[in-house]
Amino acid sequence: MRKQIILITGANGEMGHGLISQLAENGITNILAIDIKPVDESLQSMCQLALTGDILDNELFDRLVSEYEILTIYHLAAVLSTHAEFTPEAAHRINVQGTLNLLRLAIEQSRWQGRSVKFLFPSSIAVYGVPNLEIKTKAGKVKESDFNQPTTMYGCNKLYCEVLGRYYQQHYRQLAADPEPYGVDFRSIRFPGLISAVTVPSGGTSDFAPEMIHRAAQHQPYNCFVREDTRIPFMAMPDAIKALLLLEQADQKRLTKIAYNIGAFNPSAGEIYKIIKKIYPNSLIDFKPDLKRQKIVDTWPADVDDTAAQNDWDWKPDYDLCRAFEEYLIPTISKRYQR
Ligand code: SER
Repeated sequence: MRKQIILITGANGEMGHGLISQLAENGITNILAIDIKPVDESLQSMCQLALTGDILDNELFDRLVSEYEILTIYHLAAVLSTHAEFTPEAAHRINVQGTLNLLRLAIEQSRWQGRSVKFLFPSSIAVYGVPNLEIKTKAGKVKESDFNQPTTMYGCNKLYCEVLGRYYQQHYRQLAADPEPYGVDFRSIRFPGLISAVTVPSGGTSDFAPEMIHRAAQHQPYNCFVREDTRIPFMAMPDAIKALLLLEQADQKRLTKIAYNIGAFNPSAGEIYKIIKKIYPNSLIDFKPDLKRQKIVDTWPADVDDTAAQNDWDWKPDYDLCRAFEEYLIPTISKRYQR
């Protein structure tokens, strides 16, 4: 008998940490965690198996097929938006070819199991490319179908992988004599900028908010790389994890989209600064916009319309901006840096 497991790639990332911890809290530990670097020790005890491996290594996946029955795949591994701009082709390989490898694994698993394997894919607000600030202000909450013209390699990769997900779900080998019986049960969320109290992001362009908060808590100076009036949606990490788990549980018959917006709050960088100043009055935060990164953030929407997620799988965040700071970020971050 092959062992039944949940596969999580990119385990060491911010979402990986949040997801594995939450699953452990829910009593779920039949997790196979993969990361390109050795999986953090703090996570290993919460997983059945922690592998160091490359998602571009097909042999790794071939071995997994023979040993495991994969119930659900959370494919979290990716090169984020700022990092991807420095090595666009390498980012494409990891973000697109890596996802394709996982989709192939999911198809093979689906055939073995006689049902379609669930594939949870974090997409991003980086799939949007709003042409200019005037249109961004006027647009307000953007729908999933609006402005699908990303300006970053990461955004292109995420948008294309959503399309690939639809293909693997509905059209894979459509001309074959024996059409694919199950396909992949692909489900995706376009996450806003995420703010975690327990990890610090690396390589994203929405990192200015979490960086500002974590630096202030450590009494370190910080130069915010976007203008004070920069506004994009953000979310506290526990809500991001809640969304992934809710979408995983949702009844497929109710799902009307391959990729869903989800919203929580959308403060400007200046509004975040003001909250931080109240909590840490001695913090030394300056605004020194990096014009190139600014240009990227300016193409991301100021807010998202998440009506579809509300209707289809009862999405509702637990944390608004105030509660995120008061009940999650401040208590957890302060404890973290007191040690
Ligand atoms: N927050 C991510 C980034 O900035 C986008 O998904 O790259």
